[in-house]
Amino acid sequence: MEIQRAAGALGAWVSDVSVADAARSDALFDEISAALLEHEVLFLRGQRVTPVEFQQFARRFGQVEGHPAYDTVDGAPDVQILESTPEKPSKIEVWHSDMTFRPAPPAITLLHGQIIPPYGGDTLWASATAAYEALSEPMRRLVDDLHAIHDFRHGFQESLAEPGGPERLADAIAANPPVRHPLVRTHPETGRRAIFVNALFTTRVEELTPRESASLLDFLYRHVVTEEFTVRLGWEADTIAIWDNRATQHKPVNDFFPMHRKMHRVTIAGDRPA
Ligand SMILES: [Fe+2]
Repeated sequence: MEIQRAAGALGAWVSDVSVADAARSDALFDEISAALLEHEVLFLRGQRVTPVEFQQFARRFGQVEGHPAYDTVDGAPDVQILESTPEKPSKIEVWHSDMTFRPAPPAITLLHGQIIPPYGGDTLWASATAAYEALSEPMRRLVDDLHAIHDFRHGFQESLAEPGGPERLADAIAANPPVRHPLVRTHPETGRRAIFVNALFTTRVEELTPRESASLLDFLYRHVVTEEFTVRLGWEADTIAIWDNRATQHKPVNDFFPMHRKMHRVTIAGDRPA
């Protein structure tokens, strides 16, 4: 197996390994898992594996978690289908960390490219640890003690504005009331601290006035996605990306409408941010 850095702050290419083999080998899996902790997002090309093999590999990272809004693959119930078509275009185009509206958001997300448009549809990741470490000492002291509110409804407001949206999402809203997280979280395995607010789900900073909260969040959202803290992936069919939601944010570039794109996804449960 070969591991090569993809950018200055985060990201690495993993080559000369099949995830189907890594699903059966402790040594291979441990190497990939260690690389993920170090590099925060990993890219693997040419992974011609079935949904069942992808699921077997993904399960090694921990407890798999479902999502209230997505269908799954027949015969591979842990694998969610993310599909964009002219009739059902992709709606999420904001930087975020996955499902931070949950009390314990997922630790890790894996995506496997199935149908990829000939151009467009890249994904970007940003290192929230590198962004935190680049803050000045006084700014770190300020954000270290703050908490923020995250809300499912904030992230799905476009769907909620559609006819029938509030009815369709009523159960998901009832099951996901707003939650409070520390504004800076400490990674349970690496000990690195990371900015943990995102433009998709965070609504306000609890301890600040509304104007202070809006200004600080606006600064942090832009700071996290400073180009020097990012890496960008151009997808191919059979590309797998694996990322650590506790240390990163990501943004799907929504520039491929009306082309067809299909991805398979597995998310791995995480603990309560602290
Ligand atoms: Fe996401």
